[in-house]
Amino acid sequence: MRTAILISGRGSNMSALLAAMAGPDFPARPVLVLSNRADAAGLGLTGGVPTAVVSSRGLEREAFEAELDARLREAGVELIALAGFMRVLTAGFVRAWQGRMINIHPSLLPSFPGLDTHARALAAGVRLHGCTVHWVSPDVDEGPIIAQSAVPVLPQDDAASLGARVLAREHALYPAALRLVAAGGGAAVTVPAATCHLDSLWLR
Ligand code: GAR
Repeated sequence: MRTAILISGRGSNMSALLAAMAGPDFPARPVLVLSNRADAAGLGLTGGVPTAVVSSRGLEREAFEAELDARLREAGVELIALAGFMRVLTAGFVRAWQGRMINIHPSLLPSFPGLDTHARALAAGVRLHGCTVHWVSPDVDEGPIIAQSAVPVLPQDDAASLGARVLAREHALYPAALRLVAAGGGAAVTVPAATCHLDSLWLR
């Protein structure tokens, strides 16, 4: 499936997806990396995959999304992977791509939607934290869950150490989830079988 990765910053999940897609027999291939910020570090790490910047600055939301939509359609995109894309998308845009757009979120949804997930997990005292790949629906961080990976919260953790442990899991989980989705034909399937990646164990 012709896949676009949307980023806003560092791009470490993007890099994990690109590395996986470079492997043999991967059912998705990258056709575009698009950022809403020209200074996103990830734009320099695409290894030759075409990049585009659609700046959200100074644009009305609808104009921004119309431009985004046009770039994605021009590139013949069939599947969108949001990877640290920090713009909330309108219900109209999400509906236009619903069933063809996935996201990674740094918590075990439905716990801790939104921002500052690691600090909030610590404040809540949870003993398991992690990340979730889900379909994007009009309600932010609420789409059907595709896959999750859990990590322990250790007594000495701060938000940085916990975030680093989760990020390492994100880099394993997102390629695995993309493989599932793309192998199923993306929009042609409903929600693929849920998977749970707990520590080093794959449970299906
Ligand atoms: C990742 O932790 C991702 O889960 C999170 O932003 C980070 C991006 O890092 N996404 C969200 O919070 C979306 N709400 P990266 O640019 O290195 O992949």
